[in-house]
Amino acid sequence: MDIFAKAYDYQVPRQAAAAGLYPYFIPLSSGAGPEAVMAGRRVLMFGSNDYLGLTGHPEVKQAASRALEVYGTSCTGSRLVNGTIDLHLELEEAVAGFFRRPAALVFTTGYQAALGTISALAGLGDTVLADRGVHASLLEGARLGHGRVCVSGITTWVSWNGCWRAARPAAARSS
Ligand SMILES: Cc1ncc(COP(=O)(O)O)c(C=O)c1O
Repeated sequence: MDIFAKAYDYQVPRQAAAAGLYPYFIPLSSGAGPEAVMAGRRVLMFGSNDYLGLTGHPEVKQAASRALEVYGTSCTGSRLVNGTIDLHLELEEAVAGFFRRPAALVFTTGYQAALGTISALAGLGDTVLADRGVHASLLEGARLGHGRVCVSGITTWVSWNGCWRAARPAAARSS
């Protein structure tokens, strides 16, 4: 069996594109502020995570430009190995201070933050109860950690009860 057959046979995106309904991978030819340029047209942007408008803020751009001169265009490795630079630590100290916490860890995307943290917390033998509406990254993080994941509305009522009991601390389970 051709392992790529499922990709060749999957026609939904082509059908959606032909109907003018495919919303993904449309290139912007501008920065993504409250307005963006898409296929030569100015459009309103509702999908961005740049809620505070920091991406295009003059001070942020200036600082990024200074960093580019000093560090180049990449960290050339993962944070774990050779990709941590002093700016990461400076940022994490600032974030920790802002939230009045002893330490902070930054990730490149929200998805990675969920994978990195939840997979570390929900290990083998742990049970994660999740609402079906949570972001996919939270479920992926729990699965990556080999935790047992029960999703409301998808997990059956009987197994949801089993999950709930397994998730309670041992002392409470006997009550
Ligand atoms: C709760 C939650 N987790 C993760 C993400 C994914 O973030 P990113 O697009 O930065 O990977 C989002 C995105 O909106 C989110 O709302």
